[in-house]
Amino acid sequence: MNTPDDLDARLTRRHADLLVLGGQVVTPAGIERLDVACLGGHIVALGELRRSWSAESTLEAAGLHVLPGVIDTQVHFREPGLTHKETLEAGTRGAVLGGVTGVFEMPNTSPLTLTPEDLAAKFDRADGRAWCDHAFYIGGSAVNAERLAELERLPGCAGVKVFMGSSFGDLLADDDTVLRRILRHGRRRLAVHAEDEARLRERRVLVEASGDVCDHPRWRDPRSALMATRRIVAMAAESWRRLHVLHVSTADEMAYLAHHKRRVSVEVTPHHLTLCAPECYRRLGSLAQMNPPVRDDGHRQALWRAIRDGVVDVIGSDHAPHTREEKARPYPDSPSGMTGVQTLVPIMLEHVHQGRLSLPRLADLTSAGPARLFGIEGKGRIALGYDADLTLVDLSARRTISDAWIASVSGWTPYHGQSVTGWPITTVIRGRTVMRDEALVGRPQGQPMAFLEGTPTPSVENPASR
Ligand code: DOR
Repeated sequence: MNTPDDLDARLTRRHADLLVLGGQVVTPAGIERLDVACLGGHIVALGELRRSWSAESTLEAAGLHVLPGVIDTQVHFREPGLTHKETLEAGTRGAVLGGVTGVFEMPNTSPLTLTPEDLAAKFDRADGRAWCDHAFYIGGSAVNAERLAELERLPGCAGVKVFMGSSFGDLLADDDTVLRRILRHGRRRLAVHAEDEARLRERRVLVEASGDVCDHPRWRDPRSALMATRRIVAMAAESWRRLHVLHVSTADEMAYLAHHKRRVSVEVTPHHLTLCAPECYRRLGSLAQMNPPVRDDGHRQALWRAIRDGVVDVIGSDHAPHTREEKARPYPDSPSGMTGVQTLVPIMLEHVHQGRLSLPRLADLTSAGPARLFGIEGKGRIALGYDADLTLVDLSARRTISDAWIASVSGWTPYHGQSVTGWPITTVIRGRTVMRDEALVGRPQGQPMAFLEGTPTPSVENPASR
């Protein structure tokens, strides 16, 4: 155990817990060959350290790129209540195997996460079982709208999430009166799943008649998404509330959101950037079924343009596992959702390899972006004083993604059989190596994340602040 005096002495002696040596480090200033010294969970030195520092352990990172720890701001880990699909243990194990150091978990579990007790129960379950750092969303609904200002400030709460269109589970707030009540209570950025429930209900007959999963994007059409996005953006403006529109999937929404960037942030997912209708539905059937749906190439190209234009702030996986048996139900009774937390980094590195985005831009979308939008304390960049969360990747490693590699209880990925160039090799969380040379190390020691706008957490001893 490091006492403050121990840490002081260690800093003076230049003896770190961990030295990461010789990697190409992605810093706010660009990509540089640097060594990284980690002590007491923080980054305490950067530079040419091989001769001047010693450490309890070292990681040789020559030939690797060192990214700030990847934060996946949208995962569904299904616990409590739906542990036959996913658990906090398996979900976070998949995260670290995939190079992810922190996750925001969603409230459509059973029971829903609506009260302080629900939130506390999730932290209890995560204690000693979560492999990565974590925060949990509170669901916003008619039953807790007036309490949200208090709920969103609870320690470790990522904020409030609203489902305007029903997707999976009972969490729904589709009525303008309820949405306004939610928006009026609280100050933090409100995360929304924007699909217009009334239009979805009206159009469901289409797919009930056809029973064809290829019609999924026709049922939940671009207009359903745009209608909901416009409504919530307009309502949020009435109460000066910041918004985060989750998994934006259409060209139409991107064109609209580009004019509302001052208070509205935008997430896209790897599956909307990668898969393409109708091919993916023909090939994968309901395994490609997701809400909002994977759409055609025109929409996919618009999402890439929005990344290049800076309209997109973060990439979240929307990891939403269902078992193969559940997915095998006849469409549209098959549930929507696919795994994604473990494949986020490999799939996005393949896009880097294909030249669709740069590594620093990816790091902004997966580390600095989440920290900036949500005010995560101490995370999101490789800089002195920040948490020593590092995702070490090999940009030239060629691997084939397979179901067998997936840690999720549901045990499958839509990318089974896909080869990628670029792979997560080692994951470091607060200076502890949790995945090394593609294998897990140690035991789960994930901690709740802290937020600048949340309840202050007791100050953590940070040797770099001395
Ligand atoms: O397809 C989806 N499934 N989209 C979501 O946003 C939620 C999800 C789930 O929880 O299964």
